[in-house]
Parts: sequence; structure tokens; C-alpha cells
Amino acid sequence: MNAPPDLCAELAELALDAARLGAARAAELRAGPLDVTTKSTATDLVTNADREVERLVVGHLRARRPGDGVIGEEGSTTSPDAEVVWVIDPIDGTTNYVYDFPGWATSVAVRTATGTLLAGAVVDPLHGDEYVAARGQGARRNGRRLALPQPPPLERALVATGFGYDSDRRAQQVAVLGGIIREVRDIRRMGAASVDLCSVAAGRVDGYYELGLAEWDLAAGTLIAIESGARVEEIDGGPPRPSGRVVAAHPELWPQLAELLRSAGF
Ligand code: IPD
Ligand code: CA
Repeated sequence: MNAPPDLCAELAELALDAARLGAARAAELRAGPLDVTTKSTATDLVTNADREVERLVVGHLRARRPGDGVIGEEGSTTSPDAEVVWVIDPIDGTTNYVYDFPGWATSVAVRTATGTLLAGAVVDPLHGDEYVAARGQGARRNGRRLALPQPPPLERALVATGFGYDSDRRAQQVAVLGGIIREVRDIRRMGAASVDLCSVAAGRVDGYYELGLAEWDLAAGTLIAIESGARVEEIDGGPPRPSGRVVAAHPELWPQLAELLRSAGF
């Protein structure tokens, strides 16, 4: 599909509107009683707010672009093979959300049927951050254009990561962490993959890696980080894949970080 710059800019505006709407409603719902249950494992939380925010975001997008497909974490998936598909995580960082710990976000991206990301927005209301990117047109945080600074050497890099909800996978993730922590400045585990990728874009961390993310965790943050100048790829190259091994960093730091991660068994 041919996606002219004007269309990408228009989709970015719509993604940002939808993510703002979702994050504002999630913040409102956080003030009331939450109905918290679990999904894939006993530590994988979902709330009434995750479901309500997804309905709201999807309704907003469908009213404006009824022909597009939707992939949503909480089950709103329809026409996932359409030419244009919205990829939505209504609350990324649900554990942060339940604990009222800053760093959850509403993440909205839009891509073609073949996976080309056209636009994305991540709204993190407790930090007051709105990130948005349109393909080929850069990324912005609260209206200001993002541009990655020169990276530090690997031994002074601050590196973010995350852990999945499956205990065996966590053990594997901790083993990798043990293999890299002596070789970098320090590690951050902030609790939302979309915010981690935006943190790379904003220079709040120098790198990020994680195993086993879903498309809705990755999509918007990946485009925002790329459009800020970062390299965001599978450790073996190519665009981030669901359930893959994503590595994000300045292009000059990326190969060293990837090599270190490989040597640690990532
Ligand atoms: C999770 C967060 C977390 C990451 C997990 C994700 P959710 O998403 O992004 O940072 O480590 O792998 O599943 O479940 O809060 O939407
Ligand atoms: Ca989520």
C-alpha cells in the first residue's frame, strides 16, 4: 500500500487523539473502584478499565475510519488483514496502573497489511508525556521534535528491559540480565514496553531490550523510537516481531548492545 506523507500525518493526529482519549478515561477510572482479574498467569492483570478504554479507543477510530482493521489486546480484533490496521494497547503497564505506579500508557499505532508502521502515539498521563510519530516525519514529545543524542560507550549505557508473566520465561530473562549488568551503567525496569521504547526516543535510557512482547506492546513505541533516530530491530535483524527479541538503541550503540546480549544468551 502506498502511504503518502499527508496520510501518515493525518493518521498520526488520529492516533494521538485516540490515545489521549483512552489515557484520560483510564486516569478517571483509576480514581474509582477497579475490578482486577488475571489473564495468562496469576501475575498477568487485567481490569475493567483495560476493557472500557479499548472499547472507547476502538469506537473513536471506527467512527472516523470504518474500513480499517483493528487489533486490540483486550479482544476488539476485527479485519486484522485489512489494508490499514490499528494496533491498540488500551493500558500498557497494567501492573503499574493497578498499583498507581507512574509509567502506564495508552498506545495506538497504525500499520499496513504487510506491517509497515504508518503512525503511532503513546500517552503516559502520570508523567505528562504525549509521544507521536508519523512515518518519515520524525517523532515528537509534547510537541517538541525528538532527536537522539550521541550515545555513551556501552559501559556507561543505562539499559531498560522488562519481564513477561510466565515464571520460566522470567527465570530466563533474569539469567540474561545477570550476564549484562556488570557491563553497563545500570538497568531500569519501568513496567510498560511502549514507555520504554519512548524513553529510548527521549534519551531517558540509552537502550532497551525485551523478549516475548505482543504486537500491541511494540507497535507505536517502535515507530516513535525509529523516528527519533534509534535502531529498533530483532536481535538477528529485521523489524520487531511479536514474541521476538527486540533491541532498541542509537545506531552506534546498537551493535555493541546486541553483541553483549547475544553473549548473555538473549
Ligand atoms: C506488559 C508491559 C511490560 C512488559 C510485559 C508486557 P501489559 O504489557 O509492557 O513492561 O514487560 O512483557 O506484557 O500487560 O501491561 O499491557
Ligand atoms: Ca495492556
